[in-house]
Amino acid sequence: MSYRFTLIPGDGIGPEVSAATMRAIAATGVRIDWEEVAAGAGALASHGTTLPDATLKSVERNRVGLKGPIATPVGKGFTSVNVALRKELDLYVSLRPVKSVPGVHTRHDGVDLVIFRENTEGLYCGREHSPAPGVVETLRILTDRASERIVRWACQYARAEGRRRLTCVHKATIMKKSDGLFLAAFRRIEDEWPFLTFDDELVDDTSRGLVLAPKTYDLLVMENLYGDVLSDLCAGLVGGLGVVPGANIGDRCAVFEAVHGSAPDIAGRGLANPTALMLSGVLLLRHIGEKVAAQRLESAVFDVLSAGIVRTGDLGGTATTREFTDAVCVRAGA
Ligand code: NAI
Repeated sequence: MSYRFTLIPGDGIGPEVSAATMRAIAATGVRIDWEEVAAGAGALASHGTTLPDATLKSVERNRVGLKGPIATPVGKGFTSVNVALRKELDLYVSLRPVKSVPGVHTRHDGVDLVIFRENTEGLYCGREHSPAPGVVETLRILTDRASERIVRWACQYARAEGRRRLTCVHKATIMKKSDGLFLAAFRRIEDEWPFLTFDDELVDDTSRGLVLAPKTYDLLVMENLYGDVLSDLCAGLVGGLGVVPGANIGDRCAVFEAVHGSAPDIAGRGLANPTALMLSGVLLLRHIGEKVAAQRLESAVFDVLSAGIVRTGDLGGTATTREFTDAVCVRAGA
């Protein structure tokens, strides 16, 4: 059996890390026919827009996409392609598993937590205006519907992955109405999930707790801005954006992506570390039910990193993207 999914190679190092990830997935024995489409600065040059309609249609049709980093042209009035993709496809879950990577030494070992960030509302609605000179208002919109669906999604993930504790991160002590609404949605469905422990914590307490004792957290669900900030904080706990995967998921489709940028400073030189996108490939394989292949690919990446011999420059090694990918493919082989 062969799947047909969408590939958005992206800009800068995007084509390099995408090619590496496609090879690594193929090495597990899962056959995917990739439909390649454009988005980002490259698409602007070739299609006159950063997000061609054909790209959205391809993801809608194939339901699953793999996306390299995208450069949004600065200062020319372009909105972020990543934000537009989430909005157009209603990818309401930002899934960010954060796991210590063997061989990548940081202050804390044994971190294994997951952040679920609501991806469509909050301060990221993009509704800002200036009611008077020198004054700006930004609307922060939260709804029952969007808050409840992200919490439900997190609960379903917990059941599928055998996780036991879900923490709602908020600031309902100050923003009683908006964060209060999110917290109420969380508490409203608690009784439906008897196998899960529900607790909640103020976002400032969580920030401190994550830095001091990240191992004490399991699953964390939160609105958009808190999720954006804490996802990157957590990436820093395990070695940075180069080693954590990400996915944007909705009811109709899902896009798996590296969370680092397009790294224009090293693009085209074979120096990029494909770890983050390969681990996003692991999420993709799990999402489509290819659990054995997912496990094989994750172990292959972790084995290569933990052996410490084949490493790209960002992790202190001298290996090229190709050499690192070769080493992963050998270990991921079916
Ligand atoms: P960046 O993540 O591209 O680069 C920051 C530093 O990390 C650079 O020194 C770069 O060489 C290094 N780096 C990043 N990924 C690496 C990898 N896989 N292997 C080795 N080294 C790596 O962030 P920056 O410079 O702020 O952004 C560059 C462009 O990327 C901008 O146009 C920005 O809008 C875009 N961007 C796109 C994202 C996405 O599509 N998800 C996320 C963040 C930024």
